[in-house]
Amino acid sequence: MSDSTSTLRNRKPTASESTPTESPDLAKPAKPPTSGFLAALLLLLGVLGLLGLAGAAGTYIYNQNPGHYFWPEPREPWKAIPGDTEWTVDFSADVPKRDAIVAAFKHAWSAYERDAMGNDEYHPIARKGTNLTEAGGIGYTVIDSIDTMLLMGLNDEYARARQWVESSMTLDRDANFNTFETTIRVLGGLLSAYELTDGDQLYLDRAVDLADRMLPVFDTPSGLPYSQVNLAKRVGVADSDNRGLVSTAEASTLQLEFRYLGYLTDNSDYWDKAEHVMKVIRQARLPNGLTPIFMSSDAGKFMTSDIRLGSRADSYFEYLLKQYLQTGSVETIYREMYDDSMQAIHDNLIETSKSGKLLYTLEIHPKRLAHNNQMSWIRTLKQDHLVCFLGGSLMLGATTAGAFTGRVSIPPNVSELSPVGQRDWATGVSLVETCVDTYRTASGLSPEIVHFREKIDGGKGDWYIKDARPPGMPPVYDARYILRPETVESLFIAWRLTGHPKYRAYGWDIFQAIETHCRVPGGGYASVLNVEEVPVQWEDKMETFLMSETLKYLFLLFSDDTVLPLDEYVFNTEAHPLPIFSPSVRAGLF
Ligand SMILES: *[C@@H]1O[C@H](CO)[C@@H](O)[C@H](O)[C@H]1NC(C)=O
Ligand SMILES: *[C@@H]1O[C@H](CO)[C@@H](O)[C@H](O)[C@H]1NC(C)=O
Repeated sequence: MSDSTSTLRNRKPTASESTPTESPDLAKPAKPPTSGFLAALLLLLGVLGLLGLAGAAGTYIYNQNPGHYFWPEPREPWKAIPGDTEWTVDFSADVPKRDAIVAAFKHAWSAYERDAMGNDEYHPIARKGTNLTEAGGIGYTVIDSIDTMLLMGLNDEYARARQWVESSMTLDRDANFNTFETTIRVLGGLLSAYELTDGDQLYLDRAVDLADRMLPVFDTPSGLPYSQVNLAKRVGVADSDNRGLVSTAEASTLQLEFRYLGYLTDNSDYWDKAEHVMKVIRQARLPNGLTPIFMSSDAGKFMTSDIRLGSRADSYFEYLLKQYLQTGSVETIYREMYDDSMQAIHDNLIETSKSGKLLYTLEIHPKRLAHNNQMSWIRTLKQDHLVCFLGGSLMLGATTAGAFTGRVSIPPNVSELSPVGQRDWATGVSLVETCVDTYRTASGLSPEIVHFREKIDGGKGDWYIKDARPPGMPPVYDARYILRPETVESLFIAWRLTGHPKYRAYGWDIFQAIETHCRVPGGGYASVLNVEEVPVQWEDKMETFLMSETLKYLFLLFSDDTVLPLDEYVFNTEAHPLPIFSPSVRAGLF
């Protein structure tokens, strides 16, 4: 029986993750910081000392913005849109490739349906299902897959899935479920099924049932949600693994779903509670937009913890932009928060690779110095596959929040974008190329986590898998590919915004690698344990996001551009499309 917390999409059990409650080792700055960095660090330590924070035991709440002290000089914005403009924009469907993606979906779904229908998760090699908890399934895989079937026109499969929802699905499960995962997969999936069926009441009824069971998670001193919920008892439950803290992404990735449900039902409770979270985050924000990964639900404050764009942070940034887009770009407060965040990311978390050819994102970690017990900050040149959503997100933001006109050209004409939009476009384009580069491995699949080399590092290549072991040895965690979608998600957005055929070519290569190495002949797809080892070793798990996200974004990449246009839909972070609407429920934040 799998434990729901071990399946968290935004969680990874790496040794390197420091939690805000651990007492760190002697800081070992593996990388020589720049002198500006060092000077700023000393300044930060001085300030913390002055405030009496550095000597206190236990966890910390930021009152100061580290970025403000770290890197006082903003970077030069990237100016140019890469000059490559010589291609013919043709958005017609590539039918043979699109059909190949549909065939892959059927290969995945039919095995699940044969062996594990109604179970939350699927193991294609053992040919069995498991549930998140012992209390029984909540439709995790079925609900997550329904909108993909509808888009692909798989009517028979769809009819059986709907039948299951109608006659077998129950949410009355006496166990703790992750608030964030349940929202993005189940609530998001129900709402997009409602949308794509032009309003099949069954899905709205189920969505209301689920949301009502979940609403008590917001009953905390601050209004930030508890990270778990007991669906039968209808109570929020603090996360025992992390001393009751909630991760930033978990708190801030419920809003598209609860807001849309509020709009559909005219029940402002859904809207207000989700929006209130954003108000708390906005008030707690560090002055220039840097966002640590943990918050306290009691205090409504950020905790001293890692600052990064991968797990526990990623979809916070995604949803800032998408909340702005969801209601037709009228809620400028989200655009301001988004702009601040993108500025902070450019100032602090983006670096150029050793060869100078790739842009990538890095992380900063708090460490307490053993000799004087003071806080220090360390850069780690590490990028999760999860961060690969950011390239497409920046491109989408550049052509919406960062555009002078309501609708930009395809590809955007530089004069249509604001200076910030031009910067974000250029960074987004480059980050997509970097993520594609991480697929240039023996298998053609990307590792879960890559590290980048310092300029002074004599090793070969711009990036590497840390502590990688030779084929035949037990692989490190970072070396795996678990069918993740973020790169093909960015490729889909980049394709729709540019019409550049290279994005389809990249997506097709990735799909071929999945077909070659992840496809289980008897049905389904498995995760790969080491992307640099061929033939591959499998892990017996088909993540639900293969059917909800990876294959959906690939399908959309090869469909024509009338399918889910980006100016009519926002995708939730599990790739469930929700329509852009004019809000009838208007609450306090804007
Ligand atoms: C998972 O839950 C469903 C009920 O929803 C049940 O039919 C199935 O047997 C459970 N699976 C396992 C492995 O216990
Ligand atoms: C870019 O847009 C401006 C203003 O709309 C227009 O004058 C110019 O011709 C456009 N350039 C290109 C290359 O399309």
